[in-house]
Amino acid sequence: MKDTVAQIAEEIKDFAITSEETLEEYRLQFLSKKGKVTSLLSKIGTAPKEERAELGQLINKLKQEAQTRYDEAKQELQKSSTKQFGAKDDITLPGAEPIVGGFHPLTIGMEEIKSVFTRLGFTIADGPELEDDFHNFTALNFPPEHPARDMQDTFFIRKDEKDLDDLVLRTHTSPVQIRLMKDQKPPVRAIMPGRVYRNESVTYKSYFMFHQVEALYVDKNVTFAELKETLIILAKMMFGDDVKYRLRPSYFPFTEPSLEMDIWNDQKDTWMEILGAGMVDPNVLKAVDVDPEIYSGFALGLGVERMTMAKYGLTDIRDMYQNDVRLLSQFNQLI
Ligand code: DAH
Repeated sequence: MKDTVAQIAEEIKDFAITSEETLEEYRLQFLSKKGKVTSLLSKIGTAPKEERAELGQLINKLKQEAQTRYDEAKQELQKSSTKQFGAKDDITLPGAEPIVGGFHPLTIGMEEIKSVFTRLGFTIADGPELEDDFHNFTALNFPPEHPARDMQDTFFIRKDEKDLDDLVLRTHTSPVQIRLMKDQKPPVRAIMPGRVYRNESVTYKSYFMFHQVEALYVDKNVTFAELKETLIILAKMMFGDDVKYRLRPSYFPFTEPSLEMDIWNDQKDTWMEILGAGMVDPNVLKAVDVDPEIYSGFALGLGVERMTMAKYGLTDIRDMYQNDVRLLSQFNQLI
């Protein structure tokens, strides 16, 4: 019987108590009424008389040790559970949802516009925000001193006192057309997204900095019909098949003929201009050594803020730059 006592002592030692469940398992196996230690005690009577006293002592000692181990393990478990949760916490409450960021409405609008054009086979190019007069104006057929330069109120950057050769913060993304055509012979079919700057007064629909996407398609036999079709596809893909739009004749030095596209703004109950477009003027093609007798093309430049505002019902361009979380969080789910 001594062997059995020793064996149970061993089992007690080896029993791993790691949780409330294993603690209870331990109590049932060793300390409960039918547990191994308790039943040892009741078996003392079956041992030879001379051994009983010693056995009794041994088993009682084992019982005490088993009980001590139980008490200590229990305390330890309680300690670690209060450490994690705090005694008063209700661990059955649902956890707090982590706040995940979303995309800015402008990023969403920009991605949607890019995706329309990449699906139509346009590649993506870019150019510098600090431009020279040649790319921003001259190559785009704005003659020197021509009043058309006043169409776009320009921020000039003077390099130093003596240098009169000003740089400009680009007033539109059209100069990237020039850079692209100088680099790449037709066929060219690309969009050029980016930031532009204008020294104009701030209103609900105008800001001194905004984003445009320029598109340029130059190849043999590019027609006005293709331009028109592209504009209508763009409007429908962005705003749905029921979009209310109109095309108006307009003037830009770098296109002939030129037009502007408006879409109906339900919020403001008025038309809102979203882009300018036209057939690339032969003078622009000549400026980049492309023969206008062989090639023709169309170009367009659209306002990303305005299109995004129209699509998502925003009424003031300034809201785009306020970064008010109450506005931004409404866009969390849209990717
Ligand atoms: N660059 C013009 C602007 O900023 C927009 C524009 C009009 C771009 C006609 C074009 C175009 O490419 O063909 O107002």
